[in-house]
Amino acid sequence: MVCERPLLLSLYGVGMGLVLLCSCDDGSQERCLEFGQSSQPLSVEDRTLVGAPGEYQADSDLRKEMEDLASSQRSRRQRAWQILEQILSPMALAIELPSLEGGNIPLFQSWHGGDDLTRIFRRLYVELSDEQRQRRSRFTSENINNAWEWNNYAISDFASWSEERFSAYVNAIDDSARQNGIGGLARVSYSPAASWHLLRSYPEILACATGEKRVSPAEETNEAESCNVVQDQSKPGCLVDAFPPGSVIVKASFRRANVGIEADAFDTSGPALQRRLSKPEPAWDKPEAYGSPSESEAYTLRLSNGNAYWLMGLHVMTKELDDWFWLTMWWSPEPDSDFGADRPDSIPSPFDNYKLCTVVDFSEYDSDPLEGFNGSHPTTLGAALAATYEGHGGPTWCSNPYIETDPGGAETNCLGCHQHADQNLIADSQQASAPGRLRTQGSRDSDYVFVTSADGDFGRMLVETEQILGSR
Ligand code: HEC
Repeated sequence: MVCERPLLLSLYGVGMGLVLLCSCDDGSQERCLEFGQSSQPLSVEDRTLVGAPGEYQADSDLRKEMEDLASSQRSRRQRAWQILEQILSPMALAIELPSLEGGNIPLFQSWHGGDDLTRIFRRLYVELSDEQRQRRSRFTSENINNAWEWNNYAISDFASWSEERFSAYVNAIDDSARQNGIGGLARVSYSPAASWHLLRSYPEILACATGEKRVSPAEETNEAESCNVVQDQSKPGCLVDAFPPGSVIVKASFRRANVGIEADAFDTSGPALQRRLSKPEPAWDKPEAYGSPSESEAYTLRLSNGNAYWLMGLHVMTKELDDWFWLTMWWSPEPDSDFGADRPDSIPSPFDNYKLCTVVDFSEYDSDPLEGFNGSHPTTLGAALAATYEGHGGPTWCSNPYIETDPGGAETNCLGCHQHADQNLIADSQQASAPGRLRTQGSRDSDYVFVTSADGDFGRMLVETEQILGSR
């Protein structure tokens, strides 16, 4: 018997708490969650509406195509659009919205944000004994699973959310912008495989973020002495292991949409890029004002407080390749030219207003990026790629005008900067006007991910939690 998609209409009060019923496929109803048990001041309403974050289906064979991806812009871009299509595909909400006859959000918007990870981690951490906290014992899979599922319906634990309040909240979601707002404004979000891996890796992340000696992931059975163990070179020192292939991390850039604000637009055509990149420290400065894109022209979301936002850019890294597959999409008022010219029809609206660039390596191994586009999109895309091309073996290029806003930011390629994630110094990588694009060291300890460092959102949360609740 399967019981799912809780129906809000089936809520009824029980003493101080409330019970939400799920409808089961045999027609019966079953208790799903109970309301009103504790009173932590965290808002969890949207997670409850979304339910469990949706899985990313990784292509476990993609590694075999690495040579082709590195040597052909055409193959690389085709694959990047496919990845994007999955990330943007609509996912049904766990709780139906009466006004919208169901409801859905793009897959990436269902993923865990920092708030989810904080809630799940703290729930797990307080269950450890003093001695386990002292030793930084790893959580078992069963414990992670329980805390994870609790988070999917965590609203039941928050006394501030009564049946009436939640019901009114859900009923007020009656148009698509407000529906998009359920996914929230998380800056960085993690696919289930990525957030699971971060939670599993908390002992190593803490050891690195607090500046203690790097931990060897090989010594799981002997965590008390973890600080003195020599590092196993084949695994990242600051994680339990390399991220698994289903891991995807996205970083979004939103911009306030109402109150008379205009959207910035960037010309990424070949001639404009050539001009921009020929300056000493190429930056995404001097955008053109565009006006206000409509909801069909830009992905628009409205939060419960009425504030609306446009999605301007989305960075994506997926662990389907050893050094990750990197891509970024940005909004454009002329979406069908240059970096949008090869967009497949399968990209759902309004995401057909966005362009894309992608890299899989520090160096460009396509000997003629133009050639791959002869015939189908020879002109504007070829010209834009040619403007960023520095020859076979030269550095690759991929930069989002709305995200890489620092001086020098227009001439970057994801990997060149992310290889500095090991150094635990976010500030330095941002200050470095030219982080470089070629491989200098790779990223051995943190698998190219910044959030785990002491300055990163997740690393900082772990350090703070340990300072407050730990026994060290
Ligand atoms: C100049 C340095 C730099 C460049 C270039 C850069 N990043 Fe980042 N990125 C960072 C820093 C620093 C953070 C962590 C701070 C933050 O979240 O903003 C980060 C965070 C991220 C995150 C969140 C996970 C993490 O590592 O913490 C993703 C995803 C990401 N970047 C993707 C990309 C993609 C895709 C590109 C290329 C299109 C790119 N980045 C280019 C510096 C860079």
